[in-house]
Amino acid sequence: MKLSIDSFSTGSFPKRLLMILSFIALLSACNETQQATTYDWQLRENFPIPQVPENNPMTQAKVTLGRALFYDKNLSANQTQSCASCHFQINAFAEPEVTSTGSTGERHRRNAPALVNIAYNKTLTWAHDGLTTIEKQLLLPMFGESPVELGITGHEKKVLDRFNTPYYQELFHKAFPEQSIDFNLIVKSLASFVRSLVSLNSPFDRYAYDQDDHAISESAIRGMTLFFSEKFECHHCHGGFNFTQSTSHEKQLIDRRPFHNTGLYNIQAEGGYPQSDPGLSEITLNPEDNGRFRAPTLRNIAVTAPYMHDGSIATLEAVIEFYAAGGRHITTGKLSGDGRNNPLKNPLIKGFDLTKIEKQDLISFLETLTDENFLIDESHSAPSVNDQSMINNSIH
Ligand code: HEC
Ligand code: HEC
Repeated sequence: MKLSIDSFSTGSFPKRLLMILSFIALLSACNETQQATTYDWQLRENFPIPQVPENNPMTQAKVTLGRALFYDKNLSANQTQSCASCHFQINAFAEPEVTSTGSTGERHRRNAPALVNIAYNKTLTWAHDGLTTIEKQLLLPMFGESPVELGITGHEKKVLDRFNTPYYQELFHKAFPEQSIDFNLIVKSLASFVRSLVSLNSPFDRYAYDQDDHAISESAIRGMTLFFSEKFECHHCHGGFNFTQSTSHEKQLIDRRPFHNTGLYNIQAEGGYPQSDPGLSEITLNPEDNGRFRAPTLRNIAVTAPYMHDGSIATLEAVIEFYAAGGRHITTGKLSGDGRNNPLKNPLIKGFDLTKIEKQDLISFLETLTDENFLIDESHSAPSVNDQSMINNSIH
């Protein structure tokens, strides 16, 4: 398949997106016959099954291929980065950097989000109401030119040729019998691997769903009550089994795409967020959407610092102080302004009194959302040494 991604560099972001959408329409038109395989999501009992695009049903073979690709630096044009260079398993596939740096050294304006239960996400990235499938979203790190992440654009053939090895031929053959290796198949298998990153086994889950009363501490139970209270309001935006409003699955019929301005900025008292990243308004062109970002899942939140779309809050403690203050007051520099008075701020971010003990209790509760096994689960890790030796070049 011929990719015409080059033209992305010239257009504005929404225009580039249009290009991506038409590219995806092409992908769908390929109309593949998939092996009929049932996939084991390893969900908890009675948990809803995530929805996947009809033209990319889950199979274990695709997940296995996607896993190898995710960790393979051959996917970047200059062979310096893989997906795992910005998404570390030990950080729930987030990264301990304020914002990411791409394979050519270009700085991304945003913080790499955790990849946790992405299969349930209604929309992808920090602030885009039109990106609804991982297949579409992955074109950004792979082919995007502003900023360059993996930098494949202009190097398509060179990159594809690197996967023409016995190891990959075998993996591709199992995942997509009778089809020749191309970016369509790479995107599909990477998306399948990302969907397989399911995390539902934290101490909180054992407390809430396995009736294990001792799975979390007294302090965490108090923190949970605060989290779900009308004083702290957290649950309105970070609610449901995935601790985000932005959830979609077989039982969720209402279309919810919630984005909120939380009062992080109010530059020169004009309500503005930094021009480099105005949030949802960049996509919708509606000034009312300035500063609106998606409320992310809070699962595994204790291991994904720094926080917010721009990584501008360093610790969980500081996040809670930010909510208690009802926004952020920046007193010096070009970002100065009192976010607490941002006219577009969501009214639920109204601030509250907070004792030291309450702060500690809320942190204890958020810590119970860490699924330790998810962070070391081998099925999500780089392929084993034996497999690795078959890959031509180094992997992350
Ligand atoms: C240079 C660092 C970097 C690389 C390489 C990278 N990502 Fe990301 N990833 C990010 C950042 C930053 C975002 C947030 C983008 C935004 O909000 O605009 C992101 C967002 C995502 C999301 C959306 C998550 C959500 O919650 O909506 C997924 C899925 C994802 N990346 C998967 C991948 C995969 C798969 C690869 C490899 C093909 C990859 N990423 C490569 C930094 C990176
Ligand atoms: C009005 C909706 C709303 C309410 C209420 C709310 N949040 Fe958020 N939360 C968001 C949004 C939106 C973001 C992302 C903001 C951004 O990046 O600009 C966020 C981000 C976060 C983050 C950082 C996530 C990450 O991956 O970086 C944490 C932690 C968090 N919220 C915890 C809480 C807690 C605890 C409460 C209750 C005290 C709370 N939130 C109340 C909407 C909300």
